[in-house]
Amino acid sequence: MVGAMVKEAAGRIVPLIFLLLALRLAASSPADLVILKAERRIDLTSPIVRASVSLKVQNSGALPSSDVLIAFPSTQIKRLSLLNVVAVEGKRKKKSFKPLTVNPTKLSDIPEDVHLFSISLPNSLNSGETISLELLFILTHSLEPFPVEISQSESQFVHYDDSAVLLSPYLVKEQVTHIKTPNNKIESYTRINPVNVVGSELKYGTYSDRLPFSSDLIRVHFENNHPFAVVEEFTREVEISHWGSIQVTEHYSLAHAGARHMGVFSRLDYQSKPSFNGISSFRHLLARLPPRVHSVYYRDEIGNISSSHLRGDRLKSELEIEPRYPLFGGWKATFIIGYGLPLQDFLFESTDGKRYLNFSLGCPLVETTVDKLTVKVVLPEGSTDPYAVTPFAVAQRQEKSYSYLDVVGRTVIVLEKHNVVPEHNVPFQVYYKFNSVFMLAEPFMLAVAFFLFFVACIAYQHIDLSISKS
Ligand SMILES: *[C@@H]1O[C@H](CO)[C@@H](O)[C@H](O)[C@H]1NC(C)=O
Ligand SMILES: *[C@@H]1O[C@H](CO)[C@@H](O)[C@H](O)[C@H]1NC(C)=O
Repeated sequence: MVGAMVKEAAGRIVPLIFLLLALRLAASSPADLVILKAERRIDLTSPIVRASVSLKVQNSGALPSSDVLIAFPSTQIKRLSLLNVVAVEGKRKKKSFKPLTVNPTKLSDIPEDVHLFSISLPNSLNSGETISLELLFILTHSLEPFPVEISQSESQFVHYDDSAVLLSPYLVKEQVTHIKTPNNKIESYTRINPVNVVGSELKYGTYSDRLPFSSDLIRVHFENNHPFAVVEEFTREVEISHWGSIQVTEHYSLAHAGARHMGVFSRLDYQSKPSFNGISSFRHLLARLPPRVHSVYYRDEIGNISSSHLRGDRLKSELEIEPRYPLFGGWKATFIIGYGLPLQDFLFESTDGKRYLNFSLGCPLVETTVDKLTVKVVLPEGSTDPYAVTPFAVAQRQEKSYSYLDVVGRTVIVLEKHNVVPEHNVPFQVYYKFNSVFMLAEPFMLAVAFFLFFVACIAYQHIDLSISKS
């Protein structure tokens, strides 16, 4: 009897499950959406490539869709540093932007060298409805110097490779791509008609009715003398002392990632004819530090470097640093910057009684790529239950460090991220619990040490240590 009931129930549920599964598959099938209009703007004026894409997506299927897929070629995936998507609501002045979550996803039956991301929509897109999306993505190491070697008096030219049409899992009805270069010295570009050049800008399109996963490779060859500053490794150590300050130490290994320098370097030419010489090299770097920074130093393995200037006001501090020699393509420099900051600007108490540090995550050098970033937050001795809250995914781990007078050691929160750009300069927090009694531990130990020392002195005066007995 009971068995029959279960069987009957199962008989009803199983087809239902299949129906639901079929619905889900149908809803995420790419064939149902079309891109009515796509407009790409690719900015190649600096060594960091920034692209924005606006898409008008329509659901041309019968079933509602809860996500939109976007595609990247595998050549760009490795260099993709950041990807943000917003939904645009309203028109003109009343426009508002709603950030959406984006996650990598997989689909069978797509070309092998295509990577997909799925954008979750705030409300599902019903049959016939449209939505406007804005994508921003950033690529690093995507401008290839060509020629790869230049002499001191030559300009630097680079290649940029992409597709003239948007790579998309959907049919794209109408599209155009604008590519902006630093100046009008565009040596060459692939022609895929219609294409136009106006000054420093290339316009590919308008193209209509491109099938899903279409691609038309293009190469643009142009002048770019912007400093190709890359920090191959950046390590920042933030040490919190509850006695009133935060000490920051930053280790840089900096490289010029542009066309390699060829031949000998002539300092005379470099200094006497600056506009024709080493035009792609760099002398100065600008670091944006927090306001109220103090005790700034700048040194390398040889010692202090005096050529740095600190300017600042209430809102920011700018440190201009000058390495010992100008940096040409392929040259490297390693150095350390250190500074102190007032504790009350960065350490706060949360509503549940925890303490937290609120600090910037990225590298302070302006318009610089960081290949590997490590941020270490050294908490005061006696802190417990620490954890970090970051605005994007980073690798996290914990270490212990010991300095003099430490008994149990300090907890260090270590955050690591590859392929970092200035847009990653956003605050992160490290929360921890702290018992103020620990603040007294070090002075107490000092007092005990002094006390023992005096006891020993007194004892020494009263004990006869002579060996010979008269
Ligand atoms: C380097 O500069 C720092 C900070 O200005 C100073 O404390 C230190 O004594 C200097 N070291 C040398 C070797 O000049
Ligand atoms: C961290 O600091 C930034 C400004 O630097 C501020 O906008 C943000 O609200 C702070 N975050 C927290 C959690 O206090």
